[in-house]
Amino acid sequence: MDQPTVADPHRVLKSFGALKSLTAMYPVGHPLVVDTVNEVRTAVRQLSSTGWIRLDVIHGVVHVDGVASEGPPAPPGLGFDSLYVHADVTADEIAAAADVLRPSAPGDGTSIERRLADRGVEHISVGRLVPVDTRWRARKWADQPDQIYDPNYEESLALARQAFDDLSSGRRIDLRAVRDLVQLLIGRVVSSHAAVAQILAVKRFENLTYIHSVNVAVLSLMIGRKIGLSDAQLDALVEAAVLHDVGKTRIPLELVKKPGALDRRERKIMEAHPLVGAELLAQMDGLHPLTPLVALEHHRTAIGGGYPDLGEGVVPHVMSQIVSVADIYEAVTGARSYQDPTPPERACLLLARLAGTKLNGALVKAFVNAITFFPIGSLVRTSRGELAVVVRVNDDDPLHPIVRLVSENLEPAGEAIDTRARDRAGSYDRHLVETVEPPEDSAAVARLLAAA
Ligand SMILES: [Fe+2]
Repeated sequence: MDQPTVADPHRVLKSFGALKSLTAMYPVGHPLVVDTVNEVRTAVRQLSSTGWIRLDVIHGVVHVDGVASEGPPAPPGLGFDSLYVHADVTADEIAAAADVLRPSAPGDGTSIERRLADRGVEHISVGRLVPVDTRWRARKWADQPDQIYDPNYEESLALARQAFDDLSSGRRIDLRAVRDLVQLLIGRVVSSHAAVAQILAVKRFENLTYIHSVNVAVLSLMIGRKIGLSDAQLDALVEAAVLHDVGKTRIPLELVKKPGALDRRERKIMEAHPLVGAELLAQMDGLHPLTPLVALEHHRTAIGGGYPDLGEGVVPHVMSQIVSVADIYEAVTGARSYQDPTPPERACLLLARLAGTKLNGALVKAFVNAITFFPIGSLVRTSRGELAVVVRVNDDDPLHPIVRLVSENLEPAGEAIDTRARDRAGSYDRHLVETVEPPEDSAAVARLLAAA
């Protein structure tokens, strides 16, 4: 009788892992090797009978073509994060790939891709996932924003991405591109309602370090302007903010990927990123002298605690303190695999709680005054149960903006309403009670922003 054919991605990885050890001990023709090769091949065919299958191990969870699978965690010690196999893979290719990947295989500096190709393996490739994420890929978040509402913001993300890609692959960072990015953020992005609204809002996508960094730079810039920094100081601030987390490009993959709590040793390594970043930046000519300092101090607290330990009571430079406020806001409004993003108004309350100890109270106040709790374009619920989109902010009363009512399926439903309006007794007619999760449908979001 035939075995039941159940597609099992774990079996592919488990058998493949076992095969790597077996090829170290036995010759290719040994029955144990032959059996295991066949097992891998059968398991692959059960997953797909045509085309490529992509298996990624993310946080130990096996993902098949980007979708997390149920079942046991991935076997340890695979030596790769991604396995791409074509359904036409042959037994010889499986055996050769296992041989190339076995732990004691001679490396001689050639890439694994090259060694697989040299052995005639065309239907298997392996990869490591690039460690530039602050929050690891989560099954429910998209890779990036599905729509970017401002072309300048989009361009600034592309410039930042290039800089971080250069750094994480050991190339020199292009200082001209960093300078262009700083000018773009100061000259255009920060004055774009669409871009700022998108940065302030919750982020329902994987918030990679380069996106986080651009956003932190824009938010820092808003604080810097609010407290009256000069143009030269704003230049320095934005450069430092863009580069504050570059140390993360040097932290081991497994740690950057790990969600939730880290153990003591892991935390120590993770907490090295400010120092590592500062060292990286200090070696680069042409940066503002404050840039490495901000990278070093951005996890220090306003009263002289935090990490790295720079001595009891050593208070960070004001530029570092600005970046800390922006960093925390940006981090908590971002999507994480183990936590939903915090809406803007709740993130502001969190900042308020940290003011005076972890964060500088005056800077938190400047930030909250510089932004609105309900950014333009955000979808909100009023105290009367109405759904509305924020179309204008009232500077004198940031909690009571001008909104336009929309129907539950997001069609405009009425005139603009100034929520500052009060009744005869002096009470507000309505309050905004919450921000509402933006719809999945990006066309609806675009319509709402166009209306805004
Ligand atoms: Fe950081």
